[in-house]
Amino acid sequence: MTAKLLILPGDGIGPEIVREAEKVLVALRDRHGLDVAWEHGLIGGAAYDAHGEPLPAVTLEKAKAADAVLFGAIGGPQYDTLPKALRPERGLLAIRAGMGLYANLRPAILYPQLADASSLKPELVAGLDVLIVRELTGGIYFGRRETRTVESHRVGDTVVPKAVVSSDVEEYSDFEIERIARTAFEAARLRSKKVCSVDKANVLESSQLWRETVIRVGQDYPDVELSHLYVDNAAMQLVRAPKQFDVIVTGNLFGDILSDIAAQLTGSIGMLPSASMNAAGQGLFEPIHGSAPDIAGKGVANPLATILSLGMLLRYSLKRGDLADKISAAVQHVLASGLRTGDIAAPGEAKVGTVAMGDAVVAALG
Ligand code: IPM
Ligand code: MG
Repeated sequence: MTAKLLILPGDGIGPEIVREAEKVLVALRDRHGLDVAWEHGLIGGAAYDAHGEPLPAVTLEKAKAADAVLFGAIGGPQYDTLPKALRPERGLLAIRAGMGLYANLRPAILYPQLADASSLKPELVAGLDVLIVRELTGGIYFGRRETRTVESHRVGDTVVPKAVVSSDVEEYSDFEIERIARTAFEAARLRSKKVCSVDKANVLESSQLWRETVIRVGQDYPDVELSHLYVDNAAMQLVRAPKQFDVIVTGNLFGDILSDIAAQLTGSIGMLPSASMNAAGQGLFEPIHGSAPDIAGKGVANPLATILSLGMLLRYSLKRGDLADKISAAVQHVLASGLRTGDIAAPGEAKVGTVAMGDAVVAALG
């Protein structure tokens, strides 16, 4: 059966990097027998400009009807003054919620060809391969939120009269924790069989439930080694000795922060793909980096994270790991041949643009 994809280029560099991934898709269809069809949709600022909202209903409908979504990036300074509900980020959060994409997989891999790009000493990161499994549809991102004016407000041991108070609630059910824990244990089984669960169980009630639940689920995976870290320690360990980790599983906010740290360890955020999966196996696949408005339209953005996101799409949603391997091999080949976009070029090294990088990957696919 023909697989159906929805492509959402978004804002900033989104359209240019997605265009290169699309060339790879065309090559896989025309030369490697991938049975696939796709259409395009609007999200983020692009959708706001056209329809006045960051996630039009038609985009969500098309996304739900597709086997998978390939996503570029969203956001830009021209949208910074919009009310929160209309901002591009809301489009991304709403499509995550609307498709039920609770499992966010963020691999941080150090490409040997780019070993010098990390800000850590080479020996600390050589061979680094960590997978962050971030819960994506719960926690403080989606808890109750409000802003209210109160007559008095307690701050430590004093009471302040007339204060404006805002709150965002961190809330997790055992159901949500159990299903993301299973994702992490299953992923670990295909890797080095280690899961580190990250929480703040020394302070937060929701983290105590998190830890208890992960321990319970872990009993179903006796072949996987389970450890626990508080999030502050986990952040420190990630920059001290990152290779101790295999799979890290954590909640929405901690995962947001730790995955940026892990990305920086590889020194090449322009290289890192991600997958957000729901219970039905549908996924949204996007580069970890943002819309980079400062370089948008200049033809210099690195398309490799988006091309590798297409690889994850093939592996996880279309079950074509063989074609995903082909993409990875083509990317490695291109890097080994010395091609570098500006973000991964060493000082003084020659640079290629977005299109040349995409063309090179297409050529290397064979
Ligand atoms: C991410 C981003 C998003 C998040 C923003 C753009 C809403 O930082 O995907 O990590 O916080 O989840
Ligand atoms: Mg983030």
